[in-house]
Amino acid sequence: MLSHCGNTFLFYMFLFIDSLRTIPVIFALLIHPFNVEDMSNYYNFNGQITASSEVKLSVSDLSILRGYGIFDYFLVRQKTVMFLDDYLNRFYGSAQILGLNIPVTKDEMARQIYALIEANNTTDAGIRLLLTGGYSEDGYTPSTPNYLILQHPISWVPQKDYETGIKLITHLFQRELPEVKSINYLTGIKLQQEMKNASAGEILYHDGQFYRETVRANVFFVVNDEIFTPAQKILKGITRKHILTIASKHCKVNEIEVPLNFLDKASEIFITSSTKGVLPVVNVDGMMVGQGKPGPKASLLLTEWEKYCEAYIKDHSN
Ligand SMILES: Cc1ncc(COP(=O)(O)O)c(C=O)c1O
Repeated sequence: MLSHCGNTFLFYMFLFIDSLRTIPVIFALLIHPFNVEDMSNYYNFNGQITASSEVKLSVSDLSILRGYGIFDYFLVRQKTVMFLDDYLNRFYGSAQILGLNIPVTKDEMARQIYALIEANNTTDAGIRLLLTGGYSEDGYTPSTPNYLILQHPISWVPQKDYETGIKLITHLFQRELPEVKSINYLTGIKLQQEMKNASAGEILYHDGQFYRETVRANVFFVVNDEIFTPAQKILKGITRKHILTIASKHCKVNEIEVPLNFLDKASEIFITSSTKGVLPVVNVDGMMVGQGKPGPKASLLLTEWEKYCEAYIKDHSN
């Protein structure tokens, strides 16, 4: 009898203690019943739409062990994927150069990108395509690549940077396999503190003779009312391509080897990228560019770029 009472007591004690564990859960649900951001956060992992928290890449992947992988990044605006064909061409081109096989066609990849946007029910986002060297048995040899389609909120450049222009600092560096959008941003990331110390917005790479590009953007110089941009040993930016088309309607554009003395000659400098659009540069290594404020060409091209994007959205929305 005594032992039966003891068991019953222990049983109810256990129930009581166990129920305490649910209190924080109930409380959390009461104060934050529906986290929309978490609920809508899906990625695509090797063709499967998967909750972002469930996506797990093994540490044997060559992207982790050796930094062997590529990516691309583009915007979704008002549910339209901006310049999708251009980005897919570049992504598949990068993969080919690294000898990595993307297991789906471009059409199928486009379908999967739109399916992910639908699953996340967002209108504006940044999409990151990622292709890795795959799980490697010896930690060196590529195998079947893993691919991911990730979706993130867009980190826009603050409006004031367009109004005041940004500073650059220069750095002697040539990106390896420059036409490949590889996941290797070692130099840029390592120099982040130096960039912040100089209150700079980007780092401009040069090879001692010619300018190349910034860590994450292409660069343009305005000299005698003409536009000049580096022609080679750069990542061929998609924004760069369209800006060249737009600019050629307003002035002469030149894709050349841009020598370092263009810094003294330029009345304007600006950089372009998918998230930055056209961003004016007013200072390089402490030297003022032009009048030290955004110039007319950059302002015109930024306005024209916005119109161009709006026309694209109109043409491609269903
Ligand atoms: C090295 C490099 N150059 C240029 C660009 C600009 O390319 P896009 O206009 O396609 O964004 C980027 C973009 O991230 C980049 O990483």
